Amino acid sequence: MARIEWDASFSVHNAAMDDQHKKWLEIFNTLHEVMTGTGTSSLTTITAQSLTEMYDYARNHFRSEEEYLAQLNYPDLIAHRRLHRDFENKIYRYTREIEEGKILLNTNLLKIIRQWLVEHILSEDKKYSAFARQALAPAR
Ligand SMILES: [Fe+2]
Ligand SMILES: [Fe+2]
Repeated sequence: MARIEWDASFSVHNAAMDDQHKKWLEIFNTLHEVMTGTGTSSLTTITAQSLTEMYDYARNHFRSEEEYLAQLNYPDLIAHRRLHRDFENKIYRYTREIEEGKILLNTNLLKIIRQWLVEHILSEDKKYSAFARQALAPAR
């Protein structure tokens, strides 16, 4: 499984959101490196820390994105917000379980996180991007 490189196909045509998505993918890549690059006994601590960082960043990004969507009067804000909360809960649970030694951060878990990130940006966030482009287009 590879890192995720941001490219124009991820763009939601809003500089602030694109920047936050870039940073978010970077955090994922760090998580990926932590998992693939270390074999020490402190791995549990490091992965729990990296997941916590992912959780904190995701929360901040979601708040900021939801504010932007509210300003846009985005009609699907409630459903979109629900997807954000689901992801937060999922990451929170994984972090707790790793800390408690119930699960390990493995390729499978990374794959789940990776897939969520990529799909969320490429399909869900793209929807508000399309809406914004149409809503903000000059009337003819
Ligand atoms: Fe989103
Ligand atoms: Fe987003």
